[in-house]
Amino acid sequence: MSTLPLHRLFYHYSELPLSLRVLYTCSLIILGCGYMFALIYVYHTYAGRDGDPSMLSYQDIVLAYRGSGQGSRLEAALRGPMSTMLPRDEIGPLVKWVQEGANRNSYEKEIKPVLEKRCLTCHDGSNPHLANLAGYDNLKKVTEVDTGTDIFTLVRVSHIHLFGLTFVFFVVGTIFSHAYVRPVWLKAAIVATPFVGIFLDISAWYITKVTAWFGWVVIISGGIMGLCFAFMWVVSMYQMWFSPTPAAVIERMGRDTHTVE
Ligand code: HEC
Repeated sequence: MSTLPLHRLFYHYSELPLSLRVLYTCSLIILGCGYMFALIYVYHTYAGRDGDPSMLSYQDIVLAYRGSGQGSRLEAALRGPMSTMLPRDEIGPLVKWVQEGANRNSYEKEIKPVLEKRCLTCHDGSNPHLANLAGYDNLKKVTEVDTGTDIFTLVRVSHIHLFGLTFVFFVVGTIFSHAYVRPVWLKAAIVATPFVGIFLDISAWYITKVTAWFGWVVIISGGIMGLCFAFMWVVSMYQMWFSPTPAAVIERMGRDTHTVE
């Protein structure tokens, strides 16, 4: 433990008025719930893209941001689960049409009749859980090559995260700043790290589109943010309500006439 004297403006939780500690505690509890829901959401959105829904993997992240880069949903379905819906010799022309860019002219002549006969009994749009394959425009949605989350969606989610997470870590960091943690550089680093994490995480979403291994940066920076959040949360709560007042704080309290509400 370093014996660095307390900063003049440092107030430990034990020196703060009760109302402020209650405000801090309520904020931490609700933010903690928010963080849990965010984790559940992330898990549900991404786990399972690689075919294994039991955990969130590097592959899931890469598929989400970068896409598989090959084969459309229609082609994958025709080669996989839907291959039993039509005779083998009808699969070839459909796949070829998709691979050649799924143009509208040959759709009317060659593709539409096959789909009407083989697929539309289920995929006519009446079941909201099945891909609607009725009409060229609907079909087009499943013929596009999977390139992952599109840039505009990333831009939208980026600005929400940049604003949202900054507020979250500003609040948690401000509360944590009243904790007695030595060495002080470590405390400062824990306050700063999530902000670096936000920046790396969001940049990596875009870079993963071009360079797949940046998927690791997404995972690691997300993990580090989570750890910092958990550390600040636990230390703040513990020092606010459970731990004895640090000796350095008691000593200063004795020296000046600070009163505790
Ligand atoms: C008997 C009903 C039925 C018929 C006929 C049928 N499908 Fe499907 N299709 C389903 C069901 C159910 C699913 C969803 C289950 C799944 O994803 O495995 C599905 C899923 C799909 C998907 C989406 C896969 C994804 O990426 O989510 C595509 C594309 C598809 N079918 C194409 C076709 C084509 C093309 C035909 C005709 C050759 C066809 N289906 C015929 C029932 C049918």
